[in-house]
Amino acid sequence: MAIIYDEKAQIFSLHTKDSTYQMKVDDYKYLLHLYYGRKLEADMDYMLTYFDRGFSGNPYDADMDRTYSQDVLPQEFPVLGTGDYRSSALKILEENGCYGCDLRYVGYDILDSKYTLPGLPAAYSDQAQTLAIRLKDERTGAEVTLLYGVIEDCDVITRSVKVTNTGKDKLYLEKVSSACLDFLYGQYDVLSFYGRHVMERNVQRTEVSHGRQVFGSTRGTSSHQYNPFIILAQSDATECMGECYGASFVYSGNFSAEIEKDQFDQIRFIMGLSEEQFSYPLEHGEVFYAPEVVLTYSAKGFHNLSNNLHQCIRDHICRGKFKDQVRPVLVNSWEACYFDFDGNAIVELAGQAAELGIELVVLDDGWFGHRNDDNSSLGDWEVNEAKLGCSLMELSERIHEKGVQFGIWIEPEMVSEDSNLYRSHPEWALQIPGKKPVRARNQLVLDFANSQVVQYIYEKISNVLKQGKIEYVKWDMNRSLFDIYSSSTTNQGKVFYDYMLGVYRLLDLLTSEFPDILWEGCSGGGGRFDMGMLYYTPQIWCSDNTDAIDRIHIQYGTSFGYPLSTMGSHISAVPNHQTGRKTDIHTRGVVAMTGAFGYELDLGKLSDIEKEQVRKQITMYHKIAPLVQNGAYYRLSNPFVEEYGAWMVVDAEKQNALLSVVMLNIHGNMPVIYVKLDGLDATRKYRDSVTGKVYAGEALMAYGLPIPLKLGDYQAYQILFEAV
Ligand code: GLA
Repeated sequence: MAIIYDEKAQIFSLHTKDSTYQMKVDDYKYLLHLYYGRKLEADMDYMLTYFDRGFSGNPYDADMDRTYSQDVLPQEFPVLGTGDYRSSALKILEENGCYGCDLRYVGYDILDSKYTLPGLPAAYSDQAQTLAIRLKDERTGAEVTLLYGVIEDCDVITRSVKVTNTGKDKLYLEKVSSACLDFLYGQYDVLSFYGRHVMERNVQRTEVSHGRQVFGSTRGTSSHQYNPFIILAQSDATECMGECYGASFVYSGNFSAEIEKDQFDQIRFIMGLSEEQFSYPLEHGEVFYAPEVVLTYSAKGFHNLSNNLHQCIRDHICRGKFKDQVRPVLVNSWEACYFDFDGNAIVELAGQAAELGIELVVLDDGWFGHRNDDNSSLGDWEVNEAKLGCSLMELSERIHEKGVQFGIWIEPEMVSEDSNLYRSHPEWALQIPGKKPVRARNQLVLDFANSQVVQYIYEKISNVLKQGKIEYVKWDMNRSLFDIYSSSTTNQGKVFYDYMLGVYRLLDLLTSEFPDILWEGCSGGGGRFDMGMLYYTPQIWCSDNTDAIDRIHIQYGTSFGYPLSTMGSHISAVPNHQTGRKTDIHTRGVVAMTGAFGYELDLGKLSDIEKEQVRKQITMYHKIAPLVQNGAYYRLSNPFVEEYGAWMVVDAEKQNALLSVVMLNIHGNMPVIYVKLDGLDATRKYRDSVTGKVYAGEALMAYGLPIPLKLGDYQAYQILFEAV
């Protein structure tokens, strides 16, 4: 049994394969957090301590007992206004302006299935169980149901919250977080994944110290700036040892992750919706659902933590026919020709692709309205037949005749001021009456909080997708949200959240109607790289930065929370368009092949030698793709501090492994680089595909492999190991 309720002790225990989560209903019917960590059977309430603490308040029903204070006790779901001065997970504003919600335990349900969240993405599993704990504030009628999903196989506990107004007066939700974890003591670090456009998911590790550290987004997307994924790790944790906790938000909009060390050295972690510009009104009988947080615990360091999340995403987040399939090798027209193409150029690209073994051609931005640069036509989802020189059907047929599949780019959430849509419906753009909007990339954001807008865009895009033989769609989103005002509501505090519901609704409509299409998410590359998008699109364009060396860093950071199968990764031209750096096509291939692989360059400009290399790369990719897609992933170096990037994937049987190494630096008379492998079977021997040499698995893992020194910048090594 994954979920156990001990009626006598009033303790709930959630068990996964290797972890246990515990909470307790106490004498005052408060729900206290007891424990989250390695698996155990014991009741952990003996760890609760009670002392009279000055300036820590006592609830009225504690009577004369000054040792009971919510300010000190570990809370399962802390609420503003109860005497707990740490960060709160819930803020409910009453119409008279006060915050007095006092939640007490009412009851629970255990279900033999995983809960779902209406309109929101959430992990799914046939094997999972749900615990629903009901708390209520009798005075206002605010009822809060804490939802816990237990996915045992990948050591995941999901959390979400449902708030119902059962009272007669209107309430405003000013903050609804999805998960809170209180730790009684400990030295912790927080790993956050910060970045910017074309340089996403750098890794920062900082000590949790007194005060609050907040990571989040108020951009309307999860953003390039901070990924909605955090690791809390004991300060001695490494890749292969130490306790750590991962928290990933299954949501693609504004979020907040807060870490606080309090005056008694206790630590609180909270993750959920951002409270910025959030004020959600709830009338009598109305219900609000907070998006889900996926939690995982590892007693054995970051590799294990990442692998739990990789498995969770592959098996319980991604859906559709492509989730387990090897994805086609594609060529994307963006860095090949930007807006400068016609139909013949794309057919020519398809012909060149077919010759090289590339399986899919993607026509990126610029095929609709009169869009020849990024200043117009978003919202006008009409095929520009004059530019293409033919209909979309004809184009797609000509491409298929070359023997390759066809895909297109869309950016459904946007509108250009220079568009027929904007001219006829300016009120469909998010903008504040009487104020000139803030422009970004010269475009405005459509009001997806308005269901009429979503329905209109759905019909337009669905119509386009029926006009050709289309096997792939790239769903882009190229600016942040400002000017939060929807003409469809009088409650602007709802708009950020309702906008995301609108995006998810459109994703749901289109992916359900076109299940045979491979969908790839994108937001200027990795600006919306999160579990929420991955519920609809099994892969996401990892970054607009295609430079192989920067990509080693970006993919390294991304790998902490997301599997390789989700990372769109292409070989582009040199000098690289984002950095001007030159790397060899072999190096670019080694990096791009450990992702959802493709090309993004003018194939016509490749030399014959490079063409031969491309053919070999594609043959190699077909060989390793199942391994890359499903294998266990190991980070073997930290490219932010070491002079080389090294990583590997190993299949479940430990029969095949792929080692990738790229030198980030070269020096005269350079010391040898030794790379310690991981994940192999220590009792078996492995043949190196490059040299044919056979090594003992135990030796490769205990002492490593010397990497042969080659002169030149950014030398790359790709070695397949097969057990003999
Ligand atoms: C974004 C994407 C790019 C490309 C352009 C097109 O920047 O990330 O890959 O599709 O838009 O405008």
